[in-house]
Amino acid sequence: MLTKRPRGTNDFLPDDTIKWQWLEEKIRDLCSDFGYGEIRTPTFEHTELFIRGVGETTDIVEKEMYTFLDKGERSITLRPEGTASVVRAFLEHKIYSKAQPTKMYYVGPMYRYDRPQAGRYRQFHQFGVEAFGSIDPAIDAEVITLAMELLNRLGLDQLALHINSVGCPECRPIHKQELKKYLEDSLDKLCDTCRQRYEKNPLRIFDCKSKECQELIKDAPSVTSCLCEECRQHFDQVCNILNSLGVSYEVDEGLVRGLDYYTRTTFEILVEGIGAQSAICGGGRYDKLVEQCGGPDIPGIGFAIGLERLLMTLDIHGIKPDIPKSKKFFMAYVSDETKIEATKLVNELRQNRLAADMDYMGRSLKAQLKYADKLDATYTLILGEEELQKGKVTLRDMLKGEQHEVMLENLIDYCKKLIK
Ligand code: HAM
Repeated sequence: MLTKRPRGTNDFLPDDTIKWQWLEEKIRDLCSDFGYGEIRTPTFEHTELFIRGVGETTDIVEKEMYTFLDKGERSITLRPEGTASVVRAFLEHKIYSKAQPTKMYYVGPMYRYDRPQAGRYRQFHQFGVEAFGSIDPAIDAEVITLAMELLNRLGLDQLALHINSVGCPECRPIHKQELKKYLEDSLDKLCDTCRQRYEKNPLRIFDCKSKECQELIKDAPSVTSCLCEECRQHFDQVCNILNSLGVSYEVDEGLVRGLDYYTRTTFEILVEGIGAQSAICGGGRYDKLVEQCGGPDIPGIGFAIGLERLLMTLDIHGIKPDIPKSKKFFMAYVSDETKIEATKLVNELRQNRLAADMDYMGRSLKAQLKYADKLDATYTLILGEEELQKGKVTLRDMLKGEQHEVMLENLIDYCKKLIK
């Protein structure tokens, strides 16, 4: 137990975190290019926020939340997603009173109690963006383009962008009615959960994984077929802008997404590799969510990309992070006396922003040189008794295998030039 991490979680060791840092840098550069600023919210919130925000009849709220009472008897939930928290912060800090739109992004851990499998974890990380304040279809296109641009910059090209419109509170009730009418005579064929969904939120039946429900729902009237004029126009304009930007997509009328806050545009990006075709990115508009959380009537749109899934996809597609190799020095010594001087020199190199290391395990000189190789040192500095007396150090180029002496008093300047 003590040496086993909880199911569905991951340890990222230094070889992995290098990739995470690389990816996060790409994300930050991209968001800066698109004018999105970073927001950091707590990893837990009052449970009520997610019940109201994500929706009572969603899988997330019904089955997947990590909820507990804290010592003050308050119900707290580890965030299962980022949007509700960002909306809460948008309201709490009255960001809506500033010039709009507000464009923000986040990167961080999320928690869902789901059955773990490849690409599905109980703690996972999302990069998400949220844009508030604009109903312009051009911002829908911007948000979609931002997601596609990240994947393109990373070198992923076999992407399938699926988009749809799930309408608004005007057209939803019409669809709900149509859907109920369609399912009315087949209620006994639905699973227990979907029978409850039929009453409360029949749109969720589209998400059901049971074969019988899937079979039944596949010919049901889509929400898209019931769109009101304004929603139809909005969707057409989003498609037109994407066309003019040369973004390929597929209209997928079954794409209703698993969270209740969506209105109008919904989208997902699917990639080959993680099991069957699977969603790496999901998002959409949530024009009523801010109001639903107690704020003014302000629209929003965003998406989130699962970063474990993204890194896994890069791996499967053989895309390696282009991380520049940094040059490093290793300081080898031969005795207690030279060790004191070596320690000082290593410290001085580091103070001058030169990466340097030395041995702390009492290795012989031969073993130190082997260890330097293992650490991938570019240069090894060897400080022997004789060298120390002459005020010199031997510098060995590990790649070329050549070595020569350098005066200790010039060492820092010399090393700086080498690194350039
Ligand atoms: P979501 O579709 O629930 O949307 O999650 C977005 C992405 O997070 C998924 O496409 C997937 O890559 C990743 N993901 C979700 N669950 C897991 C898991 N258990 N393990 C690993 N990765 C996972 C949302 O979360 C919305 N908040 C997106 C959004 C933002 N919509 C508007 N703004």
